[in-house]
Amino acid sequence: MSSGMEAAPIAGALGAELHGVDLAGGLSDAAVADIRRALLDHLVVFFRDQALTPETQIALARRFGAIAIHPIARGRDDHPEIVEVVREPGEMLNWGSKWHADTTGIESPPMGSILYARAVPPFAGDTCWANLCLAHDTLSDGMKAMLGGMHAVHSTGAPGRYVDFYKGMRAFDAGESEAVHPVVRSHPETGRPILFVNRSFTRRFDGMTEEESRPLLDFLFGHSERPEFTCRFRWRPGSVAFWDNRCTIHDAIADYWPARNGGAADKRRVMHRVMIEGDRPV
Ligand code: SIN
Repeated sequence: MSSGMEAAPIAGALGAELHGVDLAGGLSDAAVADIRRALLDHLVVFFRDQALTPETQIALARRFGAIAIHPIARGRDDHPEIVEVVREPGEMLNWGSKWHADTTGIESPPMGSILYARAVPPFAGDTCWANLCLAHDTLSDGMKAMLGGMHAVHSTGAPGRYVDFYKGMRAFDAGESEAVHPVVRSHPETGRPILFVNRSFTRRFDGMTEEESRPLLDFLFGHSERPEFTCRFRWRPGSVAFWDNRCTIHDAIADYWPARNGGAADKRRVMHRVMIEGDRPV
């Protein structure tokens, strides 16, 4: 790449580590262009051993677009742009631990998110991503033709679901919102078709009941989460993930089983998360 960065894929379906860049140092235009290109090629890119402050993480995100404020999860008091994703010791859940793309219950979901690991256990709490372009391309022609004309209703869910199950999370006093998106959207930069549904936020097909929608949605969720469409990233303090939220889903794995290695994974996990504004899916 022209900035000297190198990409090392981590799985067959998507995901690459990018080496040779200091994200806190103020990126050159060539480095921004290389990261943008790598994001289109690999859908999620990872960086190791970064030292971001809230200020430099926000400045980094702004190189890729305007910051999107989460509609329900409340950000830090000093930096509202940053949502702190906290899993406290003893918790068996992890915020984000069900396959989803971010906030698809709003009209224009974010184009991407940048997640920075501040504190992570020595093992457990990895995150997986799945490639929704591959999920689309591997459907039969008949299924593609049928889905091509369909829309689905996505919902953010009630604010309680963002906080009630997690000690470290806070929500705005916001209402639940809904948005209707095409089931197959087109990537605004590459033009690739994307199977744009996810288990957390897609409720039903537009014009159908939840009950009528369930069998086909369940098939599409299971299909899009197939292991061969995924990659899995093991965090270390200082690791960063930047994903294209238009064509991926992700799942934070809550595998903090207390009996394993004498409970060695039962450490506080703290991630700083910033979202970048996106377009209305078409
Ligand atoms: C998220 O869904 O944004 C959180 C992912 C994670 O904490 O690994």
